[in-house]
Amino acid sequence: MADLSAPCDLSGQTALVTGAAGGVGAEIALCLERAGARVFATDLDSARLAEVRADRCAAWDIRALDVSNIEDVGSVVGSVCEEAGQIDILVNCAGIYRMQFLPEITERNGTGCSPSM
Ligand SMILES: NC(=O)c1ccc[n+]([C@@H]2O[C@H](COP(=O)([O-])OP(=O)(O)OC[C@H]3O[C@@H](n4cnc5c(N)ncnc54)[C@H](O)[C@@H]3O)[C@@H](O)[C@H]2O)c1
Repeated sequence: MADLSAPCDLSGQTALVTGAAGGVGAEIALCLERAGARVFATDLDSARLAEVRADRCAAWDIRALDVSNIEDVGSVVGSVCEEAGQIDILVNCAGIYRMQFLPEITERNGTGCSPSM
């Protein structure tokens, strides 16, 4: 069985992380960088992403990216491939998570769940 606690060597690998200004995305981007990968960190909130990179003293290349916009995705993936050759690792952490009381959930307020279910 693989030893998951052992450090892995990702030297020469290129990683693209979405939602990298967020809690999970930033930590994963840091782990990938520490393992030797070249990290392209992206987020909808590029100002926050720049702050997070500075706070963590990270060396990520950063890009603004809205994953819900297909043209945006194509353009960022294209520019990363042009610069790095290819993307070896893709981590999708972009997302929204809203806490809501069950009786307040409706079909229209973004949960995707039908109230009749
Ligand atoms: N943290 C948890 O305990 C937990 C548990 C279950 C699921 N998740 C899911 O994991 C993902 C990451 O969680 P997190 O805690 O880091 O969340 P977070 O809110 O800290 O980070 C999410 C990031 O996604 C970015 N984002 C939102 N919409 C985007 C879009 N359209 N394009 C690009 N970026 C966008 C936000 O700007 C934010 O920086 C989320 O999808 C969340 O729903 C988290």
